[in-house]
Amino acid sequence: VKLGVIIPAAGQGKRMGASINKQFLSLQGRPILTHTLSLFERSEAVAEIVIVSSKKDRERIGELVCTEGFQKVSAIVLGGEERQESVFAGVKALSPLIKRVAVHDGARPLLTCLELNRFFTEAAKFRAAIMAIPVKDTIKRVDARGEVIETPPRETLRAIQTPQVFERSLLEEAHRKAREVGYLTTDDAALIEWLGHPVQTLMGSLENIKITTPEDLDLAEMILAKRKA
Ligand code: CTP
Ligand code: MG
Repeated sequence: VKLGVIIPAAGQGKRMGASINKQFLSLQGRPILTHTLSLFERSEAVAEIVIVSSKKDRERIGELVCTEGFQKVSAIVLGGEERQESVFAGVKALSPLIKRVAVHDGARPLLTCLELNRFFTEAAKFRAAIMAIPVKDTIKRVDARGEVIETPPRETLRAIQTPQVFERSLLEEAHRKAREVGYLTTDDAALIEWLGHPVQTLMGSLENIKITTPEDLDLAEMILAKRKA
């Protein structure tokens, strides 16, 4: 079954503190978003790509798609205030033929072909599967004043990445119901969990970082330089 891919790219990149959307910043001479799109464009498993953009960036993203000649991009749709709304807008724009969906942050440009293929193969066994890595730090839950509530055992914790793959009908149902009641969360898998369906974690990659602050951009340059060497 070929996949539809949604690339949420409608954020503002506030934590990066740049004058433009962080996804246009250069990584090894090409925009971050170009790296991300290029991976899915090249993947055999992908039939269609929908990019979600803010109003302000739409023209620039359209230009980037055109310049790079990305063939699989079927639409650039308008996102919302929250990532969740942006993804929902993306799902609705996928062609009716698409039965399975992968969601991947525009700001995660370092995923490799090998990692992606391995993930897609394993994910095919599940209605919902997400990339995850064991956490290195001890993680504590704290209250609003910073006082510790609890320390869950580290072996039970994972840092969650994208891609996340879902049966399309499940993802749409989860987004629809969440919007109805105003449930807002930070990743799509949480909506599936909230519906009561199992979500499988699969091995992610330490280098599959999300470019969030300026340090991440430096790190990304280093990772790519190392790969070239
Ligand atoms: N995103 C989106 N729509 C939003 C918010 C975020 O499509 N309303 C996208 C971003 O463009 C990014 C991904 O979701 O590719 C992950 O979000 P994040 O790293 O938080 O990016 P920004 O929201 O742009 O950054 P910040 O939170 O620092 O403003
Ligand atoms: Mg954000």
